[in-house]
Formats: sequence, structure tokens, C-alpha cells
Amino acid sequence: MRREALGGAYHLLTFQHREAAREARAGQFVMIKAGACAEPPLRRPFSILAVDPERETFTLFVKAVGDGTRALCAMREGELAQCLAPLGRAFTPPPPGTEAVMVAGGYGIAPFRLFSEELRRAARAGRVFYGGRTAADLQLRHIFEPLGVPLIPATEDGSLGARGRVTVPLEAHLDGRQGPVRLYASGPDAMLRAVARLAEARGLTAEVSLDPWMGCGIGTCLGCVVLVRRAGEPRPRYRCACTEGPVFNAATVVWPEHP
Ligand SMILES: Cc1cc2nc3c(=O)[nH]c(=O)nc-3n(C[C@H](O)[C@H](O)[C@H](O)COP(=O)(O)OP(=O)(O)OC[C@H]3O[C@@H](n4cnc5c(N)ncnc54)[C@H](O)[C@@H]3O)c2cc1C
Ligand code: FES
Repeated sequence: MRREALGGAYHLLTFQHREAAREARAGQFVMIKAGACAEPPLRRPFSILAVDPERETFTLFVKAVGDGTRALCAMREGELAQCLAPLGRAFTPPPPGTEAVMVAGGYGIAPFRLFSEELRRAARAGRVFYGGRTAADLQLRHIFEPLGVPLIPATEDGSLGARGRVTVPLEAHLDGRQGPVRLYASGPDAMLRAVARLAEARGLTAEVSLDPWMGCGIGTCLGCVVLVRRAGEPRPRYRCACTEGPVFNAATVVWPEHP
């Protein structure tokens, strides 16, 4: 395990794990907890930020918000973690000639680095809209330039990029766009819902990475269920976000009345 403290509560954590390093795709996640003992009992879910198949490592971008994340961010080099990976359904790459427009809020930026690498390998164009409360929340804003992916920041306090919600520069881009686009969103529920609404209004396909509470990551605890209505089904059904998601077509998600 290797740790790099970024600003504020953010850390980059790198772990040795052969399967995740070789097989993970953008949008998939790991369930992980610090230490080799039973406490704390539950692993926590995190999107995979990067992989290094040669070194057999994967890297996470973790914001310390509670006991589980604080324990991970306090780990020392060489300490063990318990991990299941890679898990869940990945993002679907856009068709040829379609720009992938990625929309991220806070730690929701994590899956888009791996996605940008996949896009580059498949010769697809991508663009990232990255929003946060303040510039300090946009910790990973520099990692996309080397991948040839433009990044458009937005902050609610105006300290970096456009002032206000990330959907403001996103809408401006969609208004002026030349070719087809597909939207990909990862971040707070309110942002996902705004992107889903915007996609529906403009007749665009959008994929959203949902962020429910997860206890097991493998479809047994049912802690992560979300209401989803697939084409041809008479009514929506509860589905496990850990096994059938976390990435869903936004048009199939039945959003709660008060997110
Ligand atoms: C698919 C998926 C991918 C994720 N990727 C990342 C990532 O790349 N980086 C990252 O830092 N975090 C990510 N998360 C969120 C991360 O799993 C939670 O922050 C973590 O489980 C909190 O655990 P804790 O024990 O530290 O906090 P807890 O003690 O469990 O909670 C602390 C506080 O955070 C809130 N909280 C806990 N989980 C969530 C959640 N899922 N959404 C919103 N609020 C929550 C709680 O309500 C509480 O206020 C992801 C979650 C999912 C489902
Ligand atoms: S997290 Fe347990 S069923 Fe999905």
C-alpha cells in the first residue's frame, strides 16, 4: 500500500492487486477496508482511478469523510487491506465519431481517468466538466491534460473556472456543439439527476454512476438497491447497484422524489 496526501481530506491510495490491475474497466469499483482484522466490519466502495498492469497495482482517490475512509487514509506503507475487485458494471464507450462528455462532481472524478485512457486507446474524443464547491475540491484537475482530454472546471464560489454549477458550462458546450455527444456522469445525486434531466430534454444518451450506500458489493445485503425501469418492462424494479450498476442508463433510473 502506498499513500499520497493531496489537499484537504483527499488522498491517493495505491494497492497491490493483480486481478484489478489487469482487468478493471472504467466505472468499476472495489470494496475495501483497512487492516486484516474484523473491525471495522464492512468494506467501503471506491471507483478505480488508475491501474498499472505491470506493477499489478490499482489507485483510488479517497475523500476521508467517516471511520472507514479515515482508517484507509491513515494506513502506513506495507500495511494490508481487505479488498474485493474489480466489481460492477463499467461505462459503455461511445460509438465512433461521438464525443464522450464526462461530468464529475467532487470524488466523482475518479472513474474518468481510466475512462479517458480507454477513450484514447479507442481513438474517441473526450471532454471533462469538473465541478466542486471550491478550487480545493478539484484536486485531480491536472491529470487529464497528458491524456489529451480538455477539462472545464466550475466552482460554486467562483475560485476556479465558471462560477456556479457544473451544468452551466456543460449546457453552453452542448448548445454550441458540432457533432454527436454521449454524456457520462459521476458525482452527487443532485448532479446526476440534473444531467439525466438535461439528457432527456435534449434527446441525448447519458450513463450515470450511482452512489448508494453499499454493504457487501456482491449482491447479498440488498443495501444498495435502486429503482430502475428497463425498456419493455411494465413497471420499475429494485436492482442491486453493486452488481447491475453502479453505471446505469440515466433514462432507466427512477429518481427519488426528494434526492
Ligand atoms: C460506486 C461507488 C464509488 C465510490 N467512489 C468513491 C471514490 O472514488 N472516492 C471516494 O472518496 N468515495 C467514493 N465513494 C463513496 C465512499 O464509498 C464513501 O464515502 C464511504 O463509504 C464512506 O465511508 P466512511 O466509513 O468513511 O463514512 P461513514 O461513516 O459510512 O459516513 C460518513 C458520512 O458520509 C456519508 N456517506 C457515506 N457514504 C456515502 C455515499 N455513498 N454517498 C454520499 N454520502 C455518503 C454518510 O451519510 C455520513 O454523513 C463511492 C461510493 C460508491 C457507491
Ligand atoms: S452492496 Fe450488498 S447487495 Fe449491493
